[in-house]
Amino acid sequence: MTGAAGGLPKLGVYVHWPYCARICPYCDFNVYKRREIDVARWSGALRRDLAAWARRIDRRPLTSLYFGGGTPSLMPLGVLADVINACAELWGFSDAAEITLEANPTDAELSRFDDFRRAGVNRLSLGVQSFDDDALRFLKRNHDGAQARRAVDLALARFPSVTFDLIYALPEQSPKDWRIALRSALGHGASHLSLYQLTIENGTAFERAVGRGLFKPLTDDSAADLFDVAQEETARAGLPAYEISNHAAPGAESRHNLLYWSGGDYVGVGPGAHGRLTGGGARLATTAEFEPEKYLAGVEESVSGAATIEVLDAESRLVEKLSMGMRLVSGVAIDEADIAALGARVDRLEKLSADGLVVFREGRLLATGNGRKVLNAVLAALLC
Ligand SMILES: C[S@@+](CC[C@H](N)C(=O)[O-])C[C@H]1O[C@@H](n2cnc3c(N)ncnc32)[C@H](O)[C@@H]1O
Ligand code: SF4
Repeated sequence: MTGAAGGLPKLGVYVHWPYCARICPYCDFNVYKRREIDVARWSGALRRDLAAWARRIDRRPLTSLYFGGGTPSLMPLGVLADVINACAELWGFSDAAEITLEANPTDAELSRFDDFRRAGVNRLSLGVQSFDDDALRFLKRNHDGAQARRAVDLALARFPSVTFDLIYALPEQSPKDWRIALRSALGHGASHLSLYQLTIENGTAFERAVGRGLFKPLTDDSAADLFDVAQEETARAGLPAYEISNHAAPGAESRHNLLYWSGGDYVGVGPGAHGRLTGGGARLATTAEFEPEKYLAGVEESVSGAATIEVLDAESRLVEKLSMGMRLVSGVAIDEADIAALGARVDRLEKLSADGLVVFREGRLLATGNGRKVLNAVLAALLC
């Protein structure tokens, strides 16, 4: 994939670690209950997969490396260090490269923070979900509020950059409850927060519980009220939204996630990982083998763990560019090629704009605050 015209997009690497101590009732990620890990086999496979991608794509220093999951804070340290070292050898890191690891805030994982830091991790993303014991019990997390507070404080003392996830719009959560919880969470002083509304995903234990009438999810209107509270409180604390669910102090935005939303390149390794790569005028969408055993066997047999590599056509590129870019508060730059790809659908922008859902400003298309709340409907109205 050499010979791309013009400057190449920034490049990051995503590593998916699929194991968790237990499976949370709301989660539909590609996750499996933890088992014995063959360290040499995992290290070998991830390094081999990375090396295969490095041979295929135009060389650039990495601006980010992201360990997501699953629970990467349960990764054997040898595997973590081997992947970081492999990335350094294959691509090198740019100045101020971001190396993020997602960690669950249990005491067992807390004791490994120094090791993560020594291995090169400079940004910790904690899956706090809530600081409230009742909410954590409802979510069936294996940490309590006190452990979450200890984890955030320890992470802030150890890592240059810390973010944590909270889940809101829990059943019966009122705007007042959420405002109090969020104010207290903001008081910890992290410079980045991800705030996710609880979604009831197909095939999860929560979907079955809702089906049996064990609890009722919040209505969309009630969840939208809590979204407004999140915008107000984070802006007030100096961490305004820069994306639908992400809030940061200026300059503390996630470099890696910005690659996803702004059309950057990323290599994806590990079971089910996705990648996007640009070269020679084409944009490739890659997906790794989904199941861990198949992933390992695939890399061992055929060098790369990629199950599918698809060249995105103009329509898919447009849909992806708008659906990712309009998640950002700053919106997405629209060029002549996008206008051409939109064709007659360009007229729909006027209606969306008249409804106060989108704005076209200085060559960028933005979803307004109201538009971001119903972005899927906005995108459907624009693109379908
Ligand atoms: C895949 S998890 C990985 C992080 C880590 N394993 C953890 O659970 O703390 C990433 C984040 O997605 C969010 N998440 C996962 N499923 C969700 C759901 N159904 N509704 C809302 N947020 C969800 C949680 O906030 C979680 O921290
Ligand atoms: S929410 Fe996190 S810990 Fe729970 S199953 Fe999903 S990835 Fe694993």
